Amino acid sequence: MPEKGSILVIDDEPEICESLAQLLRMEGYRADTAPDAESGLKKFGQNPFDLVLLDVSLPEREQGVEVLRSIKRDNPETPVIMITAYDSSETAFTVSKEGADNYITKPWDNEKLLLDVRNALSNCRLRAENLQWRRLQSRYDLPNVIGKSERMKKVFDLIMQIAPSRATVLIQGESGTGKELIAKTIHLRSSRAQKPMVPVNTGSMPIDLLESTLFGHVKGAFTSAIASKKGLFELADQSSIFFDEIGTIGIDTQAKLLRVIQEREFMRLGGTETVRVDVRILAATNSDLGKMVEEGKFREDLYYRLNVIAIDLPPLRDRKEDIPLLARHFFTKYGEENQKSGLAFSPEVMKLLMNYGWPGNIRELENLVERSVVLASGSTIGLDLLPDSLREGNGLSAASRNQFSAQLNGDSLSGMLQDYERRIIVKTLERAGGRQTEAAEQLKVPLSTLNQKIKRLHIRLHRRGDG
Ligand SMILES: Nc1ncnc2c1ncn2[C@@H]1O[C@H](COP(=O)(O)OP(=O)(O)OP(=O)(O)O)[C@@H](O)[C@H]1O
Ligand SMILES: [Mg+2]
Repeated sequence: MPEKGSILVIDDEPEICESLAQLLRMEGYRADTAPDAESGLKKFGQNPFDLVLLDVSLPEREQGVEVLRSIKRDNPETPVIMITAYDSSETAFTVSKEGADNYITKPWDNEKLLLDVRNALSNCRLRAENLQWRRLQSRYDLPNVIGKSERMKKVFDLIMQIAPSRATVLIQGESGTGKELIAKTIHLRSSRAQKPMVPVNTGSMPIDLLESTLFGHVKGAFTSAIASKKGLFELADQSSIFFDEIGTIGIDTQAKLLRVIQEREFMRLGGTETVRVDVRILAATNSDLGKMVEEGKFREDLYYRLNVIAIDLPPLRDRKEDIPLLARHFFTKYGEENQKSGLAFSPEVMKLLMNYGWPGNIRELENLVERSVVLASGSTIGLDLLPDSLREGNGLSAASRNQFSAQLNGDSLSGMLQDYERRIIVKTLERAGGRQTEAAEQLKVPLSTLNQKIKRLHIRLHRRGDG
């Protein structure tokens, strides 16, 4: 019989120890016994037990409680069931105050005792799992995906269905519609969640660098390859790899990628050995891959391999009912960050936002809320706090536009700070020849932060050789 758990019985009466141990062993537990407090604590210290059955009087009245205290102090998670000779409410009170999980009275009923043991163990496992889940959640920052529109509900249903499989997923949508967030969600809802998803930003990389980044290289593969190096595919083994902007991958790399998707194997640059990996592929694009196939810019076979499951994220203007919900979500998020709670848009602003076209989709809304929280002095965000770009073309008269022109982006503190930040990033990127990794190093920020800032500040990237 497989072992169900290990239990230590501490009781000064040898017959009780033995009969309990026997009963537990017959049920498939591993059981050990100790006749007094000292040897009991010693055994417990040497060997972690999943549960302890402990006599209250060992033989002195308080000794059992002392043992209980000592166990709970160092191992609060380990369930302890007390055994007492008298069913008194005073005993029950004392032992529960000291952290006992339950208590039984002599003579006990075998079935009841086994049930209590089973319950205590399963509660304990549940607690441990919860703890693990919470840790996982905080570690990976389980994303909050908001939306109640029919179109988003369909997306959520699809995600639930396909997340556990290994199927390749192609996520399509305009800029800022949440493609990366959805990719993360799929990964975190799969059995691969224990390992982090590996993102590849193909857009910002020259082709030779991209290939060695993906597949790794052996020593001497090219002049600067002084040691062999693992690629992202190997790092993503047992996990998921996320290709952002898959449409920007060159035609040569596409062929290699196709092979990995088909065979789950590849060779390192300059290598002769085949490397096998278990990787799930998630990809995103905001260009029309189907059209790129027609134009001969994207391999048709790769397109079909990627497009096993397609998730189309609708632009925000097509799911306006999500705007108030998303706004509230971002107000909470940035309110916490800036220690300002209870903020909201005025009804006037809300009306304007519902009629706005949102070219930058959810990211644009998120940025607007963040900006509003930073600038807000009262609890309601009125029209005067909105950037001009939002009011333009939204039916506001020229007169009212003038009235607000003093609040132009560049005049506000946060606007000036943004301009300054933008200038520094552009300069650093220029100096680094457009290499974001290098620029991030120089600015002493993580690459992901730099990427976010580039997007948020709408910095256009000029790759080397682009002229
Ligand atoms: N449904 C949603 N609920 C809450 N936040 C969202 C949602 N969709 C997107 N966001 C937030 O909007 C921002 C932009 O999302 P994300 O980076 O995933 O978009 P994207 O489609 O990858 O954009 P791009 O094409 O520019 O790379 C992120 O901060 C993300 O957390
Ligand atoms: Mg993205």
